[in-house]
Parts: sequence; structure tokens; C-alpha cells
Amino acid sequence: MSENSLTSRGNWSSRMAFILAAAGSAVGLGNIWKFPYMTGENGGGAFVIVYLACIAVIGVPIMMAEVFVGRNGQRNPVASMRLVAERNLSNPAWRLSAIIGVLAAFMILSFYSVIGGWSASYVMHSGMGDFAGQDADAVGAIFSALLASPGILLFWHTVFMALVIFVVSRGLKSGLERAVKILMPALFLLLLVVVGYATTTGHFMESLDFLFTPDFSKLTWDAVLQALGQAFFTMSLGMAIMMAYGSYLGRDVSIGRAAVGVGIMDTLVALLAGLAIFPFVFANGLEAGQGPGLIFVTLPLAFGQMPLGVFFATLFFVLLLFAAWTSGISLLEPVTEWVEEKMAITRTGAAILAGVACWLLGVASILSLNVWSDVYLLGMFERFETTGILDLLDFFTANIMLPLSGLLTALFVGWCVAKESLQADMAMSDGMFTLWRNLLRYVTPIAVLAVFIYNLL
Ligand code: PHE
Ligand code: NA
Repeated sequence: MSENSLTSRGNWSSRMAFILAAAGSAVGLGNIWKFPYMTGENGGGAFVIVYLACIAVIGVPIMMAEVFVGRNGQRNPVASMRLVAERNLSNPAWRLSAIIGVLAAFMILSFYSVIGGWSASYVMHSGMGDFAGQDADAVGAIFSALLASPGILLFWHTVFMALVIFVVSRGLKSGLERAVKILMPALFLLLLVVVGYATTTGHFMESLDFLFTPDFSKLTWDAVLQALGQAFFTMSLGMAIMMAYGSYLGRDVSIGRAAVGVGIMDTLVALLAGLAIFPFVFANGLEAGQGPGLIFVTLPLAFGQMPLGVFFATLFFVLLLFAAWTSGISLLEPVTEWVEEKMAITRTGAAILAGVACWLLGVASILSLNVWSDVYLLGMFERFETTGILDLLDFFTANIMLPLSGLLTALFVGWCVAKESLQADMAMSDGMFTLWRNLLRYVTPIAVLAVFIYNLL
């Protein structure tokens, strides 16, 4: 395996291709759906500043550590961790971080595909003008009806998973690269168009003010920890994704610059999403802090009452679908690599095998929204008394597996990898290198532990 996998492993055709693929993974529902509603719930500007600091201090350094492991190992994430550990005379058990990551990617994709399916169905609803002129009750009813029908959910879940498997099975250059080269710029453009449209609502300045004028009296300790958790999720860390993508990265690329580039793109999209959404929220007198319904109920309502609303609503949900698609691709990639190398089967076979297994687990998430809506697998624990399967998967991955995997990677790269070889690989200036390594050794573990402990309490 070793010789072969080294020579057969393709490389990104350019530095930009890697950055686009990593940004395609990072930019997703977390930016367009979660960031705006979290900012709304946490009072705006001050939360945004803390969030930006977390991206810079936690997100970018962990991303660099993950990419380093992938590029240094040149194998699937688990094998790479093991190899890099052995090279540094460390315990191969450190590969646990990648095992947790691959498992988390598998679990997350199973329900991410269901939600990606919602976006696909919303493209259809908005395209057919179903939201035009509707009131809040009617729009809410469309959302509830979707969640209540296993058949329709299953259909869109299958469509979404098929799209993901299709791209991953084609491999790096003809699959993933081609997809992100088209989807990422398209997404960015669409977002700019919606932001442009939002400037016509008359509430654009109010939104700028809301997002960028900090009022630190509104900042709570809880909000700080939420910002940290979001930084983690939004940059797709702790899922072995960046290890998988890093394994295709050429030696000549600066990992630090690439990670900073991805961090900036991810942040830009989140801020633009805020500027695209809040003007409509304020213009319609809607509640900024209303939570998860913000884009699936509020936005269709707002668009439904505007001139050209059908067009812009369709555009918006196409954009959401693109974002979810490139994230879905990135979730299947580490699992596929692992299956491919472990079982020595073709890439197409591995992608289909892993994708179908994910699809099956996703069916459980679908049923948990309707037929099994009162099945609580962990109902014997007070905390999970009314937690369905989809929410359980979400809870365990986001709050336990990702921070744990990221923490292990930071500790491993910060403390176990020999300083000289690390510095040679990273090719950074002495000052930046020392700063990065110290962030990994001290700041990141403490911050991640804080999130971890907070979530468990
Ligand atoms: N980073 C993605 C986002 O912000 C979420 C994601 C999670 C993507 C897990 C891939 C894997 O939406
Ligand atoms: Na993101």
C-alpha cells in the first residue's frame, strides 16, 4: 500500500484549487444559516468581534495543524496520523484523533444530507412561486409539511446524497476540483446579488450597525463560548477533512497562507450572509433573535412579499444548496479515502459504499422528524429525554467528537512533532512559527477544553 498510495495520490492542480476546496467545505449552512441567527440571538457587534478573534486564534491554527498532518502523511487521515506519530517517535494511538474525525464526518453527513435535501426542496418551492404573497402561517405550514412527510424527505435526501457521491467518486481533479471551481465563485456572486438587493430594503445601514457596532454590555460568557464553538464548526475542523485535503497538497504551498485564505473566505461569506439576511428581517419587523427558523421560515416570508421575490428566493436557496453540496462532498472525502485504502477497492466503489451507508443512517434522521418523533434512544438520561435521533447525532458530533478530535490534533502537533521538522514543513518566518506553535500548545487546548467542559455541563 505505502509505495503505491504515495505515487498514485494525485495532487491539486493549483494552490487555488486546494483553497477553493477547503473553502467549499468550510462555507456551508454554518455561515448562511447559523452565523446570522447566532449573531441575532447574541446581540450583534460584540459577538461578531469575539467570533472573529476565535477564527484567528483557534480556527486558523487548528486548520494548519490538520493540513500539516495530511500533507506530511500523504495517506488517508487515520494512516497519516499514525505515520506522522511514528516518525516523531510518538504513540500511534494519536491516530485516535483522525478515527474520531472520520467517524464524525460519517455521522454528520448522514443528517447534513437530510438538511441539504431541505435546501433542494426549497429551491423547488421558491421556483414554483409557492411563497409568493403568503403570510407567516402559510410559509410555516410549508416547512412543517416538509418535515412531516418521510417520502418527500427521503426523495430529497436521496437526490442530495447522489449529488455528493457522484462528485466524490470522480476523484480529485475531474470531480471535486471542477465542482468547487464552478460552485464557489457562483455562490459568492449569488450572495453579492442578494446583498445588493438587500440594500434596496431601506434597512441596510441598520444591519451594518447591528453587525459591526459592538456593545460589550450585551456580551455574555455564554456568547463567548458559543462563538468559540461556531469557529470550530464553521471551519470544518475536527472531522479529518483538512487532513484528507492536505494529503493532496504539494510541498511548495504555504500551509499558513492557505489556512488564512480559507479563514478569510469563510468569514467574508458569514458576514455577507448577515448583510443579506438582516435587512429583510428588519424591513419586515421580524425578530433577529428568533433562532433556527430564520432562513427556512422568515426569509421565504420576506421574499414572498417583495417585487421579484420569486427570482431572489430561488437564487438564495440555490446558493444554500451549493454551499451544502460542497460541504457534503468534503464530508464524504475522508470516509471514502479511508474505505478505499483500507479495503483496497476502487474510488468509485468506496464512494458508493460509504455514501450508501451514510444514506441509510440518514433514513433514521428522517424518521426521527415524523414517524419516530417520540423515539428517544437516550431517553433514560434526563438531558436527552426529548432528543430525537437527528438531534442526538448533531449533539454528539458537534459538542463532543469535533472538539475532542481538534484538541488531540492540536496537542499532537504542538507537543509531539519535532520542532525542526515541523518548522521545515511549514516554511514560515521564525516569529510566525513560534506564535503558531504556542497557540497550538497552550491557547487552543485551553480554549477548546473550555468549550468542551461548558457543553458537557
Ligand atoms: N463548515 C460547515 C459550515 O459552516 C459545516 C460543516 C460541518 C461542513 C461539517 C462540513 C462538515 O456550514
Ligand atoms: Na463555515
